[in-house]
Amino acid sequence: MKRLGLFGSTGSIGENVLNVVRHNPDAFEIVCLTAHHNVQKLADQALEFRPQSVCICAEEHAGYLKEKLSGTSIRITHGHTGLVDLAREESFDMMVGAIVGSAGLLPTIEAIKAGKNIALANKETLVVAGEIVNHLLEKHKVDLIPIDSEHSALFQCLVGESSDSVKRLILTASGGPFLHTPVEEFETLTVESALKHPNWNMGAKITVDSATMMNKGLEVIEAHWLFRMPSEKIDIIIHPQSIIHSMVEFVDGSIKSQMGLPDMKLPIQYALTYPGRIQNGYESVDFTKYNRLDFYQPDTKKFPCLRLAYDALKAMGTMPAVLNAANEMAVSKFLKREIGFNDIPRWIEKAMNAHSIHPDPSLDDVLEADRWAREFCSGEIKT
Ligand SMILES: NC(=O)c1ccc[n+]([C@@H]2O[C@H](COP(=O)([O-])OP(=O)(O)OC[C@H]3O[C@@H](n4cnc5c(N)ncnc54)[C@H](OP(=O)(O)O)[C@@H]3O)[C@@H](O)[C@H]2O)c1
Repeated sequence: MKRLGLFGSTGSIGENVLNVVRHNPDAFEIVCLTAHHNVQKLADQALEFRPQSVCICAEEHAGYLKEKLSGTSIRITHGHTGLVDLAREESFDMMVGAIVGSAGLLPTIEAIKAGKNIALANKETLVVAGEIVNHLLEKHKVDLIPIDSEHSALFQCLVGESSDSVKRLILTASGGPFLHTPVEEFETLTVESALKHPNWNMGAKITVDSATMMNKGLEVIEAHWLFRMPSEKIDIIIHPQSIIHSMVEFVDGSIKSQMGLPDMKLPIQYALTYPGRIQNGYESVDFTKYNRLDFYQPDTKKFPCLRLAYDALKAMGTMPAVLNAANEMAVSKFLKREIGFNDIPRWIEKAMNAHSIHPDPSLDDVLEADRWAREFCSGEIKT
């Protein structure tokens, strides 16, 4: 029985994790659950899964949660201090990192320091502080298994292979809802159209990231840290059907891919059961329905976020943290209809141009770069 600490249980990944646990009650136990604002869903999940602890980050909801869980022995914590304490102190074997954004960084770091293995969906943690996280993983002898479907695919292709034999990693990208939209229309794209992803049902932030293709840019940085590959060896190919989840080409020219229907339950289950695999009743790919798989080169002029992410990776130091924080700010303002779709890359580029890189940052330096970029972007919207 694996004991799981699920951080970000009320989101799209969090709910899929709970679906996997529901189907495998003898394999997994939920030890703690956390949410930001969604106290109603958190309370329902707690009453179903009976964890030892829950954390609601928005402190104003703690009273409601207490009332809903009265009569149970579930411990209630709140605030970001409560979240970080839970990551460090609660007795789970594996943290499932399903929080969105750089808010997932500190709890993940605390869990690693406490020797807990990590199943990571929260790509922003590696984007912001990949080198620091890798150093801690080595120091505390902790495994980190990716949940992101592309990285799960790469991870599965690399099992049993040496890194010397890898020629390049090939990340597939659906291209998002605007793959075929003329660039002239980008200035007036609406929030509703950006939230209509053709293949995946995900949280709002990652869905907008897919529309700008920043999601793929963040994934290039994530792949760099996960597999310790230089950016020149990480390529992107547009594959609108999302059946091939990513590929690895080896030095002999052989290519391995991992395929499946676009359903996050598969990579989640793999991360929770690795190195084993367990059966499930999920639908298989019917290749007669997918008898055509398309591939295109990504268009970095149309999707400048891709170029910005490669630039941040080349610049390194605190630049990826600035890229990420500016993107989080811009996406949040876009979702509130305060800025347009094209303002997202504009803001990010402005913040990156204005940033003085710290080349070898500590955790505090990275957090300061994140804070600086958010302040910079707030200033931008005022002007
Ligand atoms: N969704 C996917 O299919 C998918 C695929 C690959 C990778 N990912 C990655 O997985 C992560 C989660 O994505 P998602 O789509 O599941 O996001 P989501 O649906 O927006 O859920 C995010 C979760 O994080 C919590 N949260 C948000 N802000 C927080 C904060 N400041 N402090 C603490 N908790 C906070 C939310 O709580 P509330 O519900 O209370 O707001 C929710 O539980 C992201 O990094 C994303 O890039 C997602």
